[in-house]
Amino acid sequence: MKIAIYDSADDAATAAAKAIAVTAAQRPDLVLGVATGSSPQPLYRALGHLVQAGQLDLRSASAFALDEYVGLDYQHPESYHSIVQRDVTAPLNMDAARVRVPEGLALDLCRAATAYEAEIALQGGIDLQILGIGGNGHIGFNEPGSPVDSRTRVVDLTGETRSANSRFFPSIDHVPTQAMTQGLATIMAARSIVLVANGIDKADAVRRAIEEPADLSHPASLLQRHPRVTFYLDAAAASELSTTLAAMTAP
Ligand code: F6R
Repeated sequence: MKIAIYDSADDAATAAAKAIAVTAAQRPDLVLGVATGSSPQPLYRALGHLVQAGQLDLRSASAFALDEYVGLDYQHPESYHSIVQRDVTAPLNMDAARVRVPEGLALDLCRAATAYEAEIALQGGIDLQILGIGGNGHIGFNEPGSPVDSRTRVVDLTGETRSANSRFFPSIDHVPTQAMTQGLATIMAARSIVLVANGIDKADAVRRAIEEPADLSHPASLLQRHPRVTFYLDAAAASELSTTLAAMTAP
């Protein structure tokens, strides 16, 4: 596990984007896993700048979104179909046919989840998974207690997650109660992982993920067992790490 700490979220995003561009240059048919939410937005902007500057070409790459709400119209501005199109596919000049989002409106959700997992396998698995982290340690929508061998499936969102995401909706009553998410085993199977966390609200979740023993009560702590994971943190998100870690310089 590498920890890279920067003064600002934008600095962290710039560094993460450069690292991703190096991987993409080595592998034009890169398979990305993409988180939504606020954390990766500076990263997507930084990747967009590299695309505009001709330093990153993702036209032959594919992407699989981490998750999608169940029952939310894909045209809704807060659906992950909309967000991935807005933040990833369009600004990164990706081929829309190669960008997938879980089918949260499928009539047979179970079958759609299995099919999503099969599509990932068909692409050869995820090369580079971009993650955020929930205040309760969730990754994707794998809430505390999610099974370590879980694959893409429908989950109930906790009150804490619905409350955190209510900032994107008129009220908490509008936040869906379920989501379809890649599982912990899906995420852990990615060949490399970039986790981005910004702001003081994530400091405790980041500390528990890095410094406490890996435990399913804090799903992000499982990342300690992944061979190639880097946390890109701004100073606030890193502020509860032990002094030794906080003194580490970015790789
Ligand atoms: C979103 C996702 C979630 C978010 C997490 C943090 O696709 O999988 O795990 O990464 O809820 O959300 P933000 O970044 O909005 O604080």
